[in-house]
Amino acid sequence: EKGGYQHFMIKEIHEEPKALRDTMASRIVDGKVNLSDLNVTREQLEKAGKIIIIACGTAYHAGVVGKYVIEKLARIPVDVEIASEFRYKDPLINEDNIVIIISQSGETADTLAAMRMCKKVGAKVIAITNVVGSTVSREADHVVYTWAGPEIAVASTKAYTTQLLCMYMMALDFADKMGRISADEYQRIIEEIRKLPELAQEILDDKEIIQRCADETFNASSIFYMGRGLDYAVAMEGSLKLKEISYIHSEAYAAGELKHGTIALIEEGTPVVALATQKGLFEKTLSNIKEVKARGAFVIAVAMEGDTEIEKEADRVIYIPRVYDILAPVLVVIPLQLYAYYVAVAKGCDVDKPRNLAKSVTVE
Ligand code: M6R
Repeated sequence: EKGGYQHFMIKEIHEEPKALRDTMASRIVDGKVNLSDLNVTREQLEKAGKIIIIACGTAYHAGVVGKYVIEKLARIPVDVEIASEFRYKDPLINEDNIVIIISQSGETADTLAAMRMCKKVGAKVIAITNVVGSTVSREADHVVYTWAGPEIAVASTKAYTTQLLCMYMMALDFADKMGRISADEYQRIIEEIRKLPELAQEILDDKEIIQRCADETFNASSIFYMGRGLDYAVAMEGSLKLKEISYIHSEAYAAGELKHGTIALIEEGTPVVALATQKGLFEKTLSNIKEVKARGAFVIAVAMEGDTEIEKEADRVIYIPRVYDILAPVLVVIPLQLYAYYVAVAKGCDVDKPRNLAKSVTVE
């Protein structure tokens, strides 16, 4: 059942190229996004005022990327909310708002409760879920399925990458309907999206350096993640993966925030995973790497092929294939998933069933 792999998690990581391919198949046709499952009109988008993304855990982290790309491409304001926070406040929501619910299982109790609140005020609810027939899929107005296949490991991997892909397709669809994206930019993103499965496979074919980084750091008591912009969003997900399966204390920081407090935690040998894939932010992240290095950090950087300048500053560099930087999260997260996995295996942890966690959190 594990297809020759030692754990479901590593099997599911290896299924990411296929999951991406399946999720875009029939939705990217003749150079256009065709989300037939989602008939949001231009009028609805114009009237919406804002989009609200609601989710928990890894799905929430996919939402953080979603906010960034919808705002960037479609120029529609997006709030991204943790379901258990949203449901217990007096949220600012009205019937014109568009709500996107993200849930791999489609059964998470807080996410369901938040969704029902949104439906009650009459907002239009779109769900991104992986489970056909799940409660979320039955109750939402529209469903965009991630075709990742069953995800068994508690740590979510292929669901996240396909949730990201759905966010990109939606952002393109909205941007196009709103007339806010040029034909060239639209085509460029489509072409690069189509390459993602193949590029993800390249990462999976060359894991040696990631294994080495894990071997060098699995004894650490704390591991920090940092990045700017989309890299920060992925840093949060990388940090969560590590925490849940390796039990190592970890935090993710917006790199520019370090000097406002966190840098005080860096000691001789503290591992810092620094993500530096965003074009306009590369130099800025490089200076943050210098800052933590100066305090003794052991820096594992993730950068794009060709950005070799980073080798001067970081102790180890994991390269991802070059891609339009707005799409980088889909690739950057893969080495982070693998790193968390190798660290957990090196520590002898029960990777697929980490302590205290359930695959689907149906209690409140
Ligand atoms: O099924 P859902 O996507 O609604 O689940 C949400 C979270 O419980 C889930 O992503 C959790 O954070 C994972 N264990 C992360 O790997």
